[in-house]
Amino acid sequence: SRSYKITVLPGDGIGPEIMSVALDVMRSIGSQEGISFHFTTKLVGGAAIDAAGTPLPEETLVACKDSDAVLLAAIGGYKWDNNEPHLRPERGLLGLRAGLGVFANLRPATVFSQLVESSTLKREVAEGVDVMVVRELTGGIYFGEPKGFGTNKNGDRTGFNTEVYSATEIDRIARVGFETARKRTGKLCSVDKANVLEASQFWRERVIEIAKEYPDVELSHMYVDNAAMQLIRNPKQFDTIVTNNIFGDILSDEASMLTGSIGMLPSASIGQSGPGLFEPVHGSAPDIAGQNKANPLAQILSVAMLLKYGLGEKKAAERIEAAVLATLDRGFRTGDIVSEGKTLVGCKQMGEEVMRALQAPVAAG
Ligand code: NAD
Ligand code: IPM
Ligand code: MN
Repeated sequence: SRSYKITVLPGDGIGPEIMSVALDVMRSIGSQEGISFHFTTKLVGGAAIDAAGTPLPEETLVACKDSDAVLLAAIGGYKWDNNEPHLRPERGLLGLRAGLGVFANLRPATVFSQLVESSTLKREVAEGVDVMVVRELTGGIYFGEPKGFGTNKNGDRTGFNTEVYSATEIDRIARVGFETARKRTGKLCSVDKANVLEASQFWRERVIEIAKEYPDVELSHMYVDNAAMQLIRNPKQFDTIVTNNIFGDILSDEASMLTGSIGMLPSASIGQSGPGLFEPVHGSAPDIAGQNKANPLAQILSVAMLLKYGLGEKKAAERIEAAVLATLDRGFRTGDIVSEGKTLVGCKQMGEEVMRALQAPVAAG
């Protein structure tokens, strides 16, 4: 039987709650499909700051590198919001992404038919939306130097960051964008701010160059401000979007709302080689932490992405996705997506219902 080493990072806020549910689902699919998982739980984020004085302890990164895949929930919380930059939970996450070299972040926003009524957009606009945001994850303004705090020549205090991309960084994420689009409907939209930013002008230049390797993919370009508007006006015009680190962060949160809730969106972060990092798009939701209210579906769907993209276990991944859909079909909803006539459940029960659906006899076809 197949056996995998998984590093588990529950993190902060709702992290431990949604992780516990997701691990139950993972054990269940494992025993049904003859896959064994060896889980090692490590500290990251605020939990690591409190226990070890740093948001990314060396032993956490070592364990992650030594595994077949890494499953992360979320980090961050009010308690650490006023810490110095190097002692913030978010630094742990950035260090993890950089340390694993996972430069490509796939964030699918799919409107499930069961949740069309939960979208804030009209049915005809939301129905059938299926967008894949390919976000560059280890470069751009998140990592560029110089950065910091200073004083300008008028003696006024400043804070600054640098948006910078090398050709190598753009070329490799562009290729992931083209490859992704090729496997979907063959349409790729590169989102930038080339009318203002040199870094974006260079981005567009390189994307056009790489496009020569993919004559079968239809490439378009859009400014990020327009893209933010078009995503709400007519999201079905998009198939695959490729964009930089910060635009991808913002546009994927925006796209999540088309699907009904940010509590639905999973993601996969992949590098050239080595283990991938799988995490929901949402954060640690400190406002509802510890109340059994969190939607665990983004975390469960991140397990499906881990199985598919991280381990090549396609059948197990598809069974989890089907179980999530079956659970929605049966009318179960957490507070973030509940609507008229549906059954409000907590985080734990939502997990139990997904497990029940997993154990139900597999429908033919
Ligand atoms: P957030 O995504 O944590 O929460 C935004 C809103 O969405 C909140 O009202 C929250 O209750 C709700 N929400 C999010 N996930 C939900 C879920 N699964 N079920 C139900 N409701 C959900 O974003 P924020 O409030 O801007 O950030 C909170 C903290 O999380 C910050 O410290 C931030 O840095 C961190 N963060 C971490 C990650 C990550 O770990 N990948 C991502 C985003 C934000
Ligand atoms: C995300 C988060 C992170 C990001 C933060 C917490 C560092 O918002 O994963 O989308 O900006 O990448
Ligand atoms: Mn984000």
